[in-house]
Amino acid sequence: MSTEQTFIAVKPDGVQRGLVGDIISRFEKRGYKLVALKMVSPSKEHLEKHYEDLSEKPFFKGLVTYMLSGPIVAMVWEGRDACKTGRSILGATNPLASAPGTIRGDYAIDVGRNVCHGSDGVESAKKEIALWFKPEEVQSYKNAQFDWIY
Ligand code: TYD
Repeated sequence: MSTEQTFIAVKPDGVQRGLVGDIISRFEKRGYKLVALKMVSPSKEHLEKHYEDLSEKPFFKGLVTYMLSGPIVAMVWEGRDACKTGRSILGATNPLASAPGTIRGDYAIDVGRNVCHGSDGVESAKKEIALWFKPEEVQSYKNAQFDWIY
């Protein structure tokens, strides 16, 4: 188990429904460090790149259209086992299979409107962080005296 960074996004439905604060709060309270945050309206090309592994899936076009429907809150969270534990905070891809207490399990019933995104592993996190953020937009807390943060 190592200190990792993961890319977490609040999708347009999460922003529209006013869930940004709650989602941030869950990661903060769990002990993760917020190291990057911005609200963005990415291009179609950017979203197609983000989801390029899914380009052959029948839901791909609808997924991109949904992701283009409003602003997205893009974040990088850092801490122990951030990718795997981040995914468990989000819940299963299909909200109907998500346990209560997870974000999707508490707030969603539709796989096509599942509120949030989280990297599925360390390698994809690196790719996604590089796609969504410039290096200087990601903070290091290097000089901060925050020894009490996990
Ligand atoms: P995927 O990368 O498989 O899941 P996750 O977001 O949990 O990493 O799929 C990306 C998104 O595609 C998913 O969050 C919602 C959407 N999607 C559908 O709309 N229909 C589907 O059947 C699946 C599997 C995903």
